Amino acid sequence: MKYTKLVAQLFLFLILLNACKDSGTGGTEDEVLEPSLRNSPTYPVGYAIQRQHLNNRSYIDLLREQSSSISAEYEMKMSPMYNDPNAINYDVVDEIVDFAELSEIRVHGHALLWHSAVPSWIQNYNGTDAEFESIIENYVKDVVGRYKGRIASWDVVNEAFDDGAGNPLRNSVFRQKMGDDYIEKVFRWAREADPDVLLFYNDYNMVANGSKLEKVIAMADDFLERGVPIDGIGFQMHISYDWPSETDIISATNKVTSRGLKIHYSELDIRVNPNATATSYNAELAQRLVNRSTFIFNLYKSLPEETQFGITWWGVKDNDSWLRDFWENPNEWPLLFNDDFEPKDAVPAIIDIFE
Ligand code: G3I
Repeated sequence: MKYTKLVAQLFLFLILLNACKDSGTGGTEDEVLEPSLRNSPTYPVGYAIQRQHLNNRSYIDLLREQSSSISAEYEMKMSPMYNDPNAINYDVVDEIVDFAELSEIRVHGHALLWHSAVPSWIQNYNGTDAEFESIIENYVKDVVGRYKGRIASWDVVNEAFDDGAGNPLRNSVFRQKMGDDYIEKVFRWAREADPDVLLFYNDYNMVANGSKLEKVIAMADDFLERGVPIDGIGFQMHISYDWPSETDIISATNKVTSRGLKIHYSELDIRVNPNATATSYNAELAQRLVNRSTFIFNLYKSLPEETQFGITWWGVKDNDSWLRDFWENPNEWPLLFNDDFEPKDAVPAIIDIFE
């Protein structure tokens, strides 16, 4: 296994070295940078990536030109990393972090604890609760500690709150075996492992589901009051061109930034064909993406600088998007680049905001 890892890393290094040489990066200080989604925005703009694409030169070139931050769409979750109770598998995460460092791109870790990404041996753990808690503590400290100084931030806990207005917490295996205060425990463990890493709570429908947002804000206020380490909130932002309303997005965002917390639009995709009426990408859909994405990027630009963590698209190219499977609608084009790695109209429109 070690040999194949070495070969994979060498291969990736050579591709990147070649990319650096050709693209002339690392130029002199006074060189004028080409307008791009990496160079123009006043805050980090990134994408969820998949390791399998890092062997594709067009994919790498696009990230190096258009990205200043990446999240792993899957590979940094507990289920792929900790399937073997005897060892955490860091091979793929090492390759992603190596790529990011070579490309001078920030890495946002997603996600330490998520109820939908739990290895079966942990989900069905039949030891004591104390033993379970110690396994989770060791995992969190081992992972965050390993990438100290290399991974800038983590979604420490993802989607812990119930969608319903009733009981706040999902009844996940973490809550069942570690208690209602498991979120606090994990944030504290992550801080112990890396004093400088930024720690986020991440969730979906934070704009549209007022009661969920209320619960998250109440937790954040409690953490801030008691000195539990937390740096920001991630709004996943799986939105449509016409939902949620601009007013609701502004109001929900301000609930976070008014507390001095960072906000990360952490999984942005914009459904432009939610009713599946269109069967091909056309000028109307393109304009929908332009209008919505420029609203989002202008709003984010207006936030207090210290609360701007960045905007991360949940994928690079339209055919990468999870939405096509989730909504069983192949006719959805929610991202910034088409299947041939070409920028859609929204890319220059967003860049123009900052030029
Ligand atoms: O790569 C493996 C492959 O080796 C294996 O043979 C195959 C067997 O099932 O699985 C492949 O992994 C898939 C992975 O995506 C990589 O493509 C997993 O099955 C599949 O479950 C996984 O789906 C991801 C999902 O989270 C679950 O982790 C989606 O790509 C990803 O878009 C989605 O992202 C989530 C965020 O983490 C949290 N917010 C919601 C968002 C959408 O569900």
